[in-house]
Amino acid sequence: MSKKKSKHNGVVANTKLNDLAHVTTDDKDAYLTTNQGVRVNDDQNSLKASARGATLLEDFILREKITHFDHERIPERIVHARGAAAHGYFQVYESMAPYTTAKFLQDPSVKTPVFVRFSTVAGSRGSSDLARDARGFAVKFYTEEGNYDLVGNNIPVFFIQDAMKFPDLIHAVKPEPHNEIPQAASAHDTFWDFISLVPESMHMIMWVMSDRAIPRSFRMMDGFGVHTFRFVNAAGEARFVKFHWKPMLGVHSVAWDEALKISGHDPDFHRRDLWENIAQGDYPEWELGVQMVEEQDEHTFDFDLLDATKIIPEEVVPVKRIGRLTLNRNPDNFFAETEQVAFHPGHIVPGIDFTNDPLLHGRLFSYTDTQLIRLGGPNFHELPINRPLAPLHNHQRDGHMRQTINRGRVSYEPNTLGGGCPMQAGARLGGFTSYAETIDGQKVRARSASFFDHFSQATLFYNSQSEPEKAHIINALRFELGKVETPAIRERMLYLLSQVDQSLASHVAEGLGIRVPTQLDTPLNMSVPADGDIAQYQPKRVKQAVGSSPALSMAHTRKDTIKTRKIAVLAANGFDDAALAAIKQALMQAGAQVKVVAPRLGVIRGVNGAAVPVDCSFLTCASVLFDAVYVPGGEQSIAELLHEADAIHFVNEAYKHCKAIAATGAGVELLRAALGADSIVGRDTDGRQVVTDEGVVMSQEAQHSDVAAAFITAIAQHRHWSREMKAPVPA
Ligand code: HEM
Repeated sequence: MSKKKSKHNGVVANTKLNDLAHVTTDDKDAYLTTNQGVRVNDDQNSLKASARGATLLEDFILREKITHFDHERIPERIVHARGAAAHGYFQVYESMAPYTTAKFLQDPSVKTPVFVRFSTVAGSRGSSDLARDARGFAVKFYTEEGNYDLVGNNIPVFFIQDAMKFPDLIHAVKPEPHNEIPQAASAHDTFWDFISLVPESMHMIMWVMSDRAIPRSFRMMDGFGVHTFRFVNAAGEARFVKFHWKPMLGVHSVAWDEALKISGHDPDFHRRDLWENIAQGDYPEWELGVQMVEEQDEHTFDFDLLDATKIIPEEVVPVKRIGRLTLNRNPDNFFAETEQVAFHPGHIVPGIDFTNDPLLHGRLFSYTDTQLIRLGGPNFHELPINRPLAPLHNHQRDGHMRQTINRGRVSYEPNTLGGGCPMQAGARLGGFTSYAETIDGQKVRARSASFFDHFSQATLFYNSQSEPEKAHIINALRFELGKVETPAIRERMLYLLSQVDQSLASHVAEGLGIRVPTQLDTPLNMSVPADGDIAQYQPKRVKQAVGSSPALSMAHTRKDTIKTRKIAVLAANGFDDAALAAIKQALMQAGAQVKVVAPRLGVIRGVNGAAVPVDCSFLTCASVLFDAVYVPGGEQSIAELLHEADAIHFVNEAYKHCKAIAATGAGVELLRAALGADSIVGRDTDGRQVVTDEGVVMSQEAQHSDVAAAFITAIAQHRHWSREMKAPVPA
């Protein structure tokens, strides 16, 4: 695909951006007009019978302006309403021709344009980014053969196995219908009532109660296609495939207490983070990975490949990394691009095909159906953001807001009057041909017996977590079930948890002040047909190929970079400017972003006279918006900060959330005031040494050449969760 310099910040443009440029406008040097292009002389006053009224109905300019305004809103997405998106491109590492004919996976020199939207699931458009929730990770590839959408999540499994239950799941998790409470939260009775009756959800519950559901950044989360799809090669041979996105910055999350506070300090935290990093050239990147399984191995697993509540452990089938996704441009207009984009798991290209996953099949219906109402008619594929780059020719016509002007008399097939055009394309000409899967069965409304192991992989996930991760899952469940008001729902949930792991259930029960029931009054699985044999629908346990999967724990993610991490420097007038300059240079060289936080906005002056602009005050930002904190010395600066309760709180809170903290010279005094003499800062040191313990780096010396390196190592760890195992910090 062609590359040329665009007007967009000198970024190398891709063909989709060129395509969008035709409909992109700015108003520079332009005169104000009506929608008919008539220039407007007065945009301040309506037309009146005299200066004091009445207003005249004749005022076509006023009527047009207000009418358009009245119709500015469209329905938000029924799910995934809250999101943010960006443009970019995808490049495959080497030809995937042995496995698939998909053109965008053939040539490593081709950059395929993409538009990617991240989202939460349950909240409304205006809800907080930091809700505990799965995150949508939807990628639209504008390929030469048409649009391919990989519409995934940051969690590799789903709550339910059959699309029939999706409306129930979403009704249960959305705010309760009588009072529309709570917003963007699963911590309420209807959600847990449903879950407690649907044991197939337990694997997904483990994931959404883990820190995966509160990511540090969209840029630091995985993506998964969830369903098993198919790759089909030129010989017509198929393989099962699961898709993975692996972030180049590692997979990182925030603490729950932090998520709650970010929701107050900056509910746009993820949206802003994506926007700012792209704007400043720190382009987010992921590798695309695939797990491939030969057709003949379909039944060799201890679960069903068609069951969306199951993963294939990476230790069983390794993830082959096949290409890279780079997001390098923010949208120009949120509504036109991010809001109007229409993803669909059914948008596939030759070389990729579906399997019979019953959840996927429901999705294949749902997306176009919902977009018909959300986007107002059948022509939303013509919206610039949705339009494929591949040429589009068919006999579909008319409808709301049709933009294409189709010439000629012929809008049917077959025809002779149009020369038989547009023509069907055989497979060799790129015509999509479905994989000729053999199906021989009875028509039944049923769930396959191979779908009934609901707990083994939930246990596998729990067993694979580090101790702090397990503690976070326990606390999340205590929080969520603690918000449930109906005792019977809590009890059912505890019983379900006991089927995953006894100690997990007991710990949660302890927090709820009740016991884990040893049996239930009703069968475990209530989603049974009216005349079904209940016994047949009860969960079964299957021996797993692996007892633990290191790939499932974020403890094993990449921890060797501090690129794009945000570091707060706490300082006031009289700070040690030489110390700050040295540390700042080292941090920035390592790719981090350094912001100065001070008692007031404006400029602060260092002891050597350096004037440093303040990025935010203790009023306009908080520790939860940063990854780490550095306190440079300077007697006067520290004396002022010691009188600033917010500065003490800032350090305390960063410590509570297990972040890297560094202090030099008199800066150590602020740590001592915040963390107490009994903590690491109370230790007797010889004054010259650099002390490093659980992410706290200190030197009594004004400048010590080892501090920066130790601080960078500490930040790269993301969090020092071991601190939580000690005395809790009140912040
Ligand atoms: C039967 C199950 C499901 C149904 C019926 C369903 C339905 C929907 C609907 C109606 C939308 C709104 C689309 C729009 O208004 O444009 C949506 C969005 C979305 N769904 Fe699903 N969904 C299902 C399961 C899943 C699963 C398993 C995943 C992950 C693999 C997923 C990922 C997404 C994503 C990422 C979006 C947001 C797309 C965007 O950014 O615009 N959904 N879904």
